[in-house]
Amino acid sequence: MKWDSQRYLNRHGFIIERGRALLDLLAPQAGERILDLGCGTGDIAQSITECGARVVGADASVEMIATARERFPALDFRVEDAAALPFEAEFDAVYSHAVLHWVTRADDAIRGMRRALKSGGRLVAEFGGWRNCAALEAAFAESLRQHGGREYRSPWFFPSLADYATRLEAHGFIVRAAWHFDLPTPLRGEDGLRQWVLQFLPRQLAGLDAAAHEAVLAGMETALRPKLWRDGAWQADYRRLRLVAEAV
Ligand code: BEZ
Repeated sequence: MKWDSQRYLNRHGFIIERGRALLDLLAPQAGERILDLGCGTGDIAQSITECGARVVGADASVEMIATARERFPALDFRVEDAAALPFEAEFDAVYSHAVLHWVTRADDAIRGMRRALKSGGRLVAEFGGWRNCAALEAAFAESLRQHGGREYRSPWFFPSLADYATRLEAHGFIVRAAWHFDLPTPLRGEDGLRQWVLQFLPRQLAGLDAAAHEAVLAGMETALRPKLWRDGAWQADYRRLRLVAEAV
């Protein structure tokens, strides 16, 4: 998918801040070599570097990597598909925030992360888990069918904790800690919900005429207002998986 990195920085920068919170679990050490998988605009890679570790930032999006290189020219950023990583036993840790739900070839991604790690290296990851954005996706699907005449196909893989942990174990990891938790997520402004859709689901709307495009977004907002509009803001129904695993 083509990423709008400016919209991401302007409207969805809270994702970067949440990624920073995950750094406490990663606890990067000076001298370590760390892969930031799905590095996006590069902000977290920069924070990891400030701890004294060396970072490779990898992302499948050419647009995101161009933005990351522009913002942090001293860092090493590469365009890589998370399901076909080329690295061999060269990292002390793999860090990945808000990315693995985009990787539907989960086993290929896990195999690649395991291969990239030295034995004893760690994976620290957080992404959408089972039932993530369930209300949001259901309302969007219904509105797309009704006003756009199209069937919605989710681009995401939101696995259960048991599912992902089992895959990790099958591919050479010991799962040291795992959480599956609700994380209601404020989307700034009256237009926050549609901005989220325009950012993350642009392909579903591509090619609709202006009236249908507007009707899909407005229909979704109407359906979700009783559920997700609280205290003057949209609250996306995020549910996260957070995992710490060790490469054996
Ligand atoms: C998430 O972080 O859970 C997420 C972000 C964008 C699209 C879907 C899920």
